[in-house]
Amino acid sequence: MPAAGRVQSRRYAARVGYDALARYQSESVPPGNGWGRQSLAENDALSADLPVSYRHRAVVPDLPAPAEYLPLLEEIHQNRWYSNFGPLVRRLEHQLQTAFAAREESCVTCSSATAGLSAALLTVGQAGQVLLPAFTFPASLGAVRAAGMMPVAVDVDAQSWALRGDRLDRALAETGAAAVMLVAPFGMHRNWEAEVAICRKRGAVVVIDNASGLGSPRSANGYGERVFEVFSMHATKPFAVGEGGVIIAHHGHEDALRAALNFALNSHADPEGPAWGFNGKMSEFHAAIGIVQSTRIRDIVRRRQAFAAIYRDRLARYSQLVCPQAMQCAPWQVFPVLLPSASAAERFVQAAAAVGLEIRRYYRPSLSRWPQIRCFDACPVAEDLSERMCVLPVRALAAGPETEQIVQLVFDALDRALTQL
Ligand SMILES: Cc1ncc(COP(=O)(O)O)c(C=O)c1O
Repeated sequence: MPAAGRVQSRRYAARVGYDALARYQSESVPPGNGWGRQSLAENDALSADLPVSYRHRAVVPDLPAPAEYLPLLEEIHQNRWYSNFGPLVRRLEHQLQTAFAAREESCVTCSSATAGLSAALLTVGQAGQVLLPAFTFPASLGAVRAAGMMPVAVDVDAQSWALRGDRLDRALAETGAAAVMLVAPFGMHRNWEAEVAICRKRGAVVVIDNASGLGSPRSANGYGERVFEVFSMHATKPFAVGEGGVIIAHHGHEDALRAALNFALNSHADPEGPAWGFNGKMSEFHAAIGIVQSTRIRDIVRRRQAFAAIYRDRLARYSQLVCPQAMQCAPWQVFPVLLPSASAAERFVQAAAAVGLEIRRYYRPSLSRWPQIRCFDACPVAEDLSERMCVLPVRALAAGPETEQIVQLVFDALDRALTQL
């Protein structure tokens, strides 16, 4: 990206407070990130309230070294097969199936989780409204719009930070929505049986956006037909390939999913559809990285969970903070912590930035504050969460001293933010 473009868009991200946009901008910062060298701030003359140079980034991509997948690149070259569900994609899907799917489920890879979410919605050929939680990353919203459906934001439950029972049932009854996108915040796996049962009762398709959750165990039995779970393999995710995703769903949906991801070439004339689709396929190059990554993921997740447990244990001393307790429920791309107020969250971010540590605020803003969004009703819980939630860096790669340094900086910044209450 040319420097001028980056400056403008980063400023925009800062002005509107869209950390989401800043996340993608920050991917353009080289690793090692210039701390102690010439900083991007000097280059870009950015305002002091958006630090662009950190000693410790919020997320450091953890992909295999090229030497590990070089033989697979040779294989691609020999095959002369680069995309369109080629042999490496099928091999990766088989590995994912063995590791994460129930017997009745298939894994279908895609070019991103956002593409997978749209494809899942297209597969069942519904028009109309899709309910989704107001507390989510904007990709959930974009995927609904890209599938030609109408998003309707619904407030979340204050404890689970997700869509729950009564409100979901009422929203379905009153809107007659054709589908529900359940979001697993921060990739935290949970048993969705109760929500799936409500959706089935109301005749709605279920798409679970678990973008950050690939790597930790899933429901052993699967959820049956008309339920799709979608994961991201973006460079920032624990199961990272660069760009990619996977949809896990009942075998019966496999052909339709592949059709939706391939322009509906094989399905547009079929009354079952999908009647139209787009290009959302994973390339063989990304699959090559994924094949190696699938041999590393158990260790990556084990290390990330151990790192997150350090936070959980030390956070237990802070009665005013809330964080997840069950370490096994997620691979922890980042570790969420809920601060007592919006101003404390902002002070935390600033105090951390002052010592070179990047703390991000997800998911912000609440979808209820997004332009042109329809809400089922007011979303006070999502709006409050989005103002108070911060995420802490988690590393699989960190060696002992780096881990200690990050943890120390996090808690120093937290102490500073909280003593000014
Ligand atoms: C909840 C949620 N959904 C969807 C996505 C989009 O994933 P991808 O970048 O693979 O499209 C993200 C990305 O972080 C996310 O957090």
